[in-house]
Amino acid sequence: MKDFENNMCICYHNFMNIDKLKKEIDLELGKLKTDADCVAFHQKYLSKSGEVTLLMTSLRDIEPSKRAEAGATFNALKKQTEERLFKTQREIKEREQYMKLMAEPVIDITRGGMGGNAPYGLHPITIISREVEDVFMNMGFVIEDGNEIATEYECFDSLNSPAGHPSRDMQDTFWLSDGRCLRTQTSAWQNYMMKKYGPVFKAICPGRTYRNENLDATHDTTFFQVEGMMIGEDISISNLIYFMKQALTAVFKRDIKVRLRPGYFPFVEPGFELDASCIFCKDGCPICKGTGWIEFCGCGMIHPHVLREGGIDPTKYQGFAFGFGLTRLAMMRWGIKDIRLFNSGNLEFLKGGAK
Ligand code: FA5
Repeated sequence: MKDFENNMCICYHNFMNIDKLKKEIDLELGKLKTDADCVAFHQKYLSKSGEVTLLMTSLRDIEPSKRAEAGATFNALKKQTEERLFKTQREIKEREQYMKLMAEPVIDITRGGMGGNAPYGLHPITIISREVEDVFMNMGFVIEDGNEIATEYECFDSLNSPAGHPSRDMQDTFWLSDGRCLRTQTSAWQNYMMKKYGPVFKAICPGRTYRNENLDATHDTTFFQVEGMMIGEDISISNLIYFMKQALTAVFKRDIKVRLRPGYFPFVEPGFELDASCIFCKDGCPICKGTGWIEFCGCGMIHPHVLREGGIDPTKYQGFAFGFGLTRLAMMRWGIKDIRLFNSGNLEFLKGGAK
């Protein structure tokens, strides 16, 4: 009887120690750092010979009237401990996997491609687009993100190019069955920008454009452009020249001269082709065909009809617009000879090996 009482006493006492065990478990769970720690914790508390499991065996020695309550307490402790261990173990595993990935990056999002040390990097269009955005943002321009699918009105009619106008022949595109099209030019966003910002603003809109083209080393069906607009009172061609010179100088990190030649686009009057001084030579090379100048973009003063379509009074406000090929700019920047590489998915190209 004495032994029995002693036994009961010891076992009951053990179960009474459940709060101490709970505290210990709390402490130990907080110390888990690795998956191996979690396995050891499981062994110590939850395995067949673990502290929590052993506690259950002591239940049978508890006074019958208190057994149900003790059983519920035990079950709650076991369930909570298992759940907390499982959660901690999952978090540790995720962290371990993340650290492993960071140690051996497949894609290094912090470095550009095009000759960086990383195995692969950002696509050259992403790099150049971000650079151009930074340059214009620093000059106070807003960055807009236009739709690639445009209405016929946005892409042509609002730009002074109604159905049947000969200028439409220069930009054949892909038409959707609902009458919309894949935009041939980022100029398709001009009308939207004017309606959004009103008569005084500066904005650029970089993005993908599409044309039904015969492919060659400098022409693709899918390429990137950047549209720019500045509208306000007393805006003149001098403003256009100033901003283009600043932008090109910042992108190429050297002093770039610009010059204007007459050029035709139905949505600007007067319209120009803007040339930049050749970045490859001083006085003539095969790339600039010996002229020292490289054709860079179309631009001009926004046509009064176009301003009116955008809800802006052309008798009070004027503005300039320009549009250049971002893909061609990337080609100049990295000496890429074939435009078809951009959409090829060629990993050598992203590493900077295939130009
Ligand atoms: C335009 O697209 C006009 N929207 C530009 C403009 C905007 C003029 C605002 C006036 C005012 P253009 O068709 O020349 O213009 O194209 C502009 C640039 O896009 C070209 O200089 C060239 O760099 C690029 N580009 C045109 N077609 C292709 C193509 N098939 N593949 C790659 N780049 C192209």
